[in-house]
Amino acid sequence: MDFKFSEAELKIQDIARKFAENEVEPYAEEIDKKSIFPEDTFNKMVSCGFTGIGTPVEYGGSGGDDIAKIIVVSEIAKKCAATAAILSIHTIFSDVIKTFGNKEQKEFYLPQVSNGGKKGAFALTEPNAGSDAAAVKTTAISDGDDYIINGAKCFITGGAHADYMVVFASTDLTKGVKGLSAIVVPKGTEGFSIGKTEDKMGIRGSETSELIFDNCRVPKSNLVGKEGQGFKIAMVALDSARIGVAAQAFGIAEGALDHAVKYMKERVQFGKPLTALQGLNWYIADMKTRIECAKWMTYRAACLKRDGEKFTMDAAIAKYNAANTAMFVTNLALQIHGGYGYMKEYPLERMFRDAKITEIYEGTSEIHKLVISRETLK
Ligand code: CAA
Repeated sequence: MDFKFSEAELKIQDIARKFAENEVEPYAEEIDKKSIFPEDTFNKMVSCGFTGIGTPVEYGGSGGDDIAKIIVVSEIAKKCAATAAILSIHTIFSDVIKTFGNKEQKEFYLPQVSNGGKKGAFALTEPNAGSDAAAVKTTAISDGDDYIINGAKCFITGGAHADYMVVFASTDLTKGVKGLSAIVVPKGTEGFSIGKTEDKMGIRGSETSELIFDNCRVPKSNLVGKEGQGFKIAMVALDSARIGVAAQAFGIAEGALDHAVKYMKERVQFGKPLTALQGLNWYIADMKTRIECAKWMTYRAACLKRDGEKFTMDAAIAKYNAANTAMFVTNLALQIHGGYGYMKEYPLERMFRDAKITEIYEGTSEIHKLVISRETLK
């Protein structure tokens, strides 16, 4: 493993950094305040090829691997966590199709969601199946060449905007977790509707919705993988997605540190800039150290994935640690800003709210501790 970026990765970082500064940061406050999905920015991410990172060029993607994805997601998260969340979660759909889809599914869906402007979503969570993902109650009952889906999903990021979503439903309730299957439901399918859209604490520009399936009929050709393989597909997809959330988390932390450094140089108290106060400088040292650790653990998990090695525990460690770091750093950066940090006029207040979700979605920190301890005790 190399601890330095390649020339190509440095180039991606430069492109992503400029994109984040010019196309993301100017809208971060507005999309948070108004809770609006940044449709224009999404389309620009399509044009830049960001939505196709990690998908092979032969399927209409931009190529590259998870390291490139982390670079882009973290650079965007520095400026706007909601936009980073939209990009990161959108790519879970392509990950599922890439890893488990058949040739026809890859040829049909991947070009559309990679660089064709269509959006993907991942619909696993239900009101009674959150951390206990195996408790999914949505059913997909066989009817000739179709499945008829009934049930509801909640807290689905990008659900209301998605053109395609992979829905986890039981094709055989008697088999419990081994009866779960992954099925693609396109937007506009009869019997599928969007329920409540949540009013959230943070990442307010990324919409989070309830999905309702009422005798929703989809062809059996929309089954991804095999019947009964759904839970495994969800777990494998979440392992990858957790690397994306870790990137969001350390990106938020880096953005908060940048603001803290700038403020400390400019703000004068007791006749000196804040940088003259050793107590605050030590905050900077703690923030920087935590960020570097979070960053390299995330890249390590991505390297293991790239090399085809098992990375479940490493992704859990990366996400658990990066989420902790995001909370720690945004809290201290806000503290350095004093009363100003608490005001909506300064971005720290938004960053602090945005950081919290990284400890919750795509597996809570407690679930990651469960995964890490189980693997360690094996
Ligand atoms: N990779 C491959 N297979 C896996 C796996 C992994 N990472 N984790 C588990 N499995 C397999 C196991 O090997 C087992 O298969 P066998 O029976 O064939 O051996 C099967 O899955 C069941 O595994 P467990 O007994 O470990 O399952 P469990 O019920 O104890 O659950 C869990 C494990 C880790 C707690 C899991 O339920 C989990 O990750 N929960 C959190 C769910 C989550 O992250 N939800 C977020 C949803 S998405 C979101 O937040 C936002 C959004 O919009 C995208």
